[in-house]
Amino acid sequence: MSGPRVELRDVTPEDRDRLRDWRNQPDVAQWMYTDAVIGPEDHARWFAAALADPSRRYWIIELDGEPVGLANLADISPANRRCAWAYYLASPAVRGKGVGAYVEYWMIEQVFGALGFAKLWCEVLVENEAVWKLHESFGFRREALLRQHVWKNGAPRDVVGLGLLAQDWAAVREASRERLQAKGYALD
Ligand SMILES: CC(C)(COP(=O)(O)OP(=O)(O)OC[C@H]1O[C@@H](n2cnc3c(N)ncnc32)[C@H](O)[C@@H]1OP(=O)(O)O)[C@@H](O)C(=O)NCCC(=O)NCCS
Repeated sequence: MSGPRVELRDVTPEDRDRLRDWRNQPDVAQWMYTDAVIGPEDHARWFAAALADPSRRYWIIELDGEPVGLANLADISPANRRCAWAYYLASPAVRGKGVGAYVEYWMIEQVFGALGFAKLWCEVLVENEAVWKLHESFGFRREALLRQHVWKNGAPRDVVGLGLLAQDWAAVREASRERLQAKGYALD
């Protein structure tokens, strides 16, 4: 069985406008901390800072050679052997087909393999239940419930903090690989 062909490549300067279009889509923005429409100048400032910042890294998610989403590491802290991460698939039509699960696996392997870190963590709006459950299915544990942590559309929202330690990953890695292989992914 052959599954979706998913690859991650580094963001390049040519991706700048695509990222603003994606990020301004309501079905992406609704899951982010801010959902005010981002203008071209603010976006250009953000983009230049993002690419220059050694504590962040960004990848474009490609499905069958087409750009479909963004994944990133943030707060990369070699001293603490940890980093945070986030991702989205821009089009709802691409969601629910196993692409996100592969990206999650790929990112975890980067962090504990290539980077050699000890912890990966993330924050998710509490109402984004599908996503924090997805993270838990890869071994993440809920470490925090941050009450009224962000304000969106004039209302406070709670946030779940999740963490995955290298030893947590070691315990679920094989089962996670088998789940992805059952979805048709050929893993190294
Ligand atoms: C989060 C996201 C990247 C997940 O990618 P995806 O390709 O849709 O996820 P997958 O198809 O790989 O699904 C992975 C698992 O989550 C489950 N899942 C995914 N979306 C779901 C939903 N909306 N409701 C219920 N379950 C869901 C799937 O059933 C699957 O479970 P399984 O492995 O047991 O079959 C994508 O949905 C997205 O871009 N969402 C909007 C942005 C966002 O919320 N980003 C996270 C912010 S922190």
